[in-house]
Amino acid sequence: MKFEKIQAPKGVREYLPPESRAFEWVREELISPARLAGYELMELPVFEDTNLFSRGVGESTDVVSKEMYTFEDRAGRSLTLRPEGTAGVMRAVIEQNLDRGQLPVKIWYSGQFFRAERPQAGRYRQFYQVGIEAIGVDDPAIDAEVISIAYQGFRNIGLKNFTLQITSLGDSVSRAAHRVDLLKFYQGLELDDATRQRAEINPLRLFDDKRPEMVDAMQKAPLLIDYLSDEAASNFEKVQSYLKELNIDYIVNPRMVRGLDYYTGTTFEFVHSDLGAQSGIGGGGRYDGLMEVLGGQPLSGIGFGLGVDRVLLAAIAEKVLPSQSFNSDLFIIPLGEDAKSSALSIANQLRAQGISTEMAFGERALKGAMKAADKSGARFVVVIGDSEISEGVVEIKRMEDGAVNSVKITELAAELKTLLRRDIYAQGK
Ligand code: HAM
Repeated sequence: MKFEKIQAPKGVREYLPPESRAFEWVREELISPARLAGYELMELPVFEDTNLFSRGVGESTDVVSKEMYTFEDRAGRSLTLRPEGTAGVMRAVIEQNLDRGQLPVKIWYSGQFFRAERPQAGRYRQFYQVGIEAIGVDDPAIDAEVISIAYQGFRNIGLKNFTLQITSLGDSVSRAAHRVDLLKFYQGLELDDATRQRAEINPLRLFDDKRPEMVDAMQKAPLLIDYLSDEAASNFEKVQSYLKELNIDYIVNPRMVRGLDYYTGTTFEFVHSDLGAQSGIGGGGRYDGLMEVLGGQPLSGIGFGLGVDRVLLAAIAEKVLPSQSFNSDLFIIPLGEDAKSSALSIANQLRAQGISTEMAFGERALKGAMKAADKSGARFVVVIGDSEISEGVVEIKRMEDGAVNSVKITELAAELKTLLRRDIYAQGK
C-alpha cells in the first residue's frame, strides 16, 4: 500500500537546516539586548482562555474578530492559540502575584504566535516573535529604554533600512476629549454597519482601515496627538528627548494605530523599506489599562513584539546574514566494531570538553567516510581502527591542507585544543 504524503498546514512558517541557523542567529541577536538590560525569560502556554484575548486585545481588532484560532477542549472550555504575547504575560503576572514584588517586572519571551491571516510573503498563520514587557513603572525613561532595546536588536543584526515611527495615544483624559470630536466627525461620514460598530468599540480603529475611500475620508479626521493633555504631551516630549539623547532617529506618525486595542501613551513601530506590504518588523507601546481590565491592580506597562520571520527576511534583503555554516572541530571515522565503540566514547569525552565532534555511522568503507567528513566541513579528521586502539595513538589530519599529527588518544583533547587555537590565530579571528 502506498501512503499519501502529508503537507504542513497553509501559511505556516518552518525553518529547516541550513536556514534554521540564520533564524536562530536572528532570534538570539534580537533577544540579547533585553538580557543585557535585566529582562528575564517567561515561558508561557501557547493556548489560553479565549476571554484573555477578547478582553485584553479587544473585540474591535481584526486579531480578535477574525483571526483567532479558537477551539473547545474536551470539557467544553473555549481556548485560543495565542495571537500575541502581552495579554499572556499580564495574566501570568497577575496570577502569580509578580506585581507584588520588585517593580518594574521585566520579562522577555519568544515563540510561536497564531493569527488566521491571509498568507503572503512575510505574513504567516504561525509566526515567531521576540518580545519584552516592563510592567509597573510609569516613567518616560522606561519607554525610551524599551524602544532602544528593540533598536539595538535590529542594529545587532546589521539592519539599516528601517524607520522608527512613534506617536502618543495619550492618557484617558486626552482620549475622552478626542473621542467626542472623532465621533462627531464620523456622523458626517457614510459608514456601513460593520464599520460603525467597530468605531463604537474603538473609534481609533478607522485610522487603520486600508480601503481607499476610508483612507481618503480619514484625511480630515481629528488627530489624537492634537488632544493630548498637558501631562501626556509632556511625557511624549520627554520620551522624544531621551530618544535624541540615545541617538535614535524617529519620525512622529500621528496616524499610526496599532492593531491591538490595549495601547495608551507612547506607541511605536519599526518599518523596513525592503519588505513590500508586510513592512512592520516590530512594534509596541504602553498599555496602561490592561492589567486592570484583566482583573489586576491598575499598574502601567510597556513592551514590544518583534517579528523574527520578517527580521530574517529583512536581513536577507540587506545581505547582512553571516555566511558561516556549522563546521565541527573533529570528524571521527571508526573502522570495525571495536573502533566504533571507542569512537562513541571518545566523541563523548571531547564534546564534554567543548570540542564539537561528529562521527561516521553505518558500515561505510573508508573512502565513503572520508567523503562524508569532507562534506561535513569538519576541520580535523581522525581514523580509528584496530591498530590505533592497540597502540593508543591516532593521527589527526587537518582537512584544509592534509597536514598530519600523531597523538596519544589520551591526549587527543588537549592536542585538538592547541591545534584549534592555532587555526583561529592563523585566520586572524
Ligand atoms: P504586533 O504589532 O501585532 O504587536 O506584532 C508584532 C510584530 O509581529 C509585527 O511587527 C510583525 O513583525 C510580527 N507579526 C505580526 N503578525 C504577523 C504575521 N501574521 N506574520 C508574520 N509576522 C507577524 C504585538 O503582537 C504586541 N503584543 C506587541 C507588544 C508587546 N506591545 C506591547 N508589548
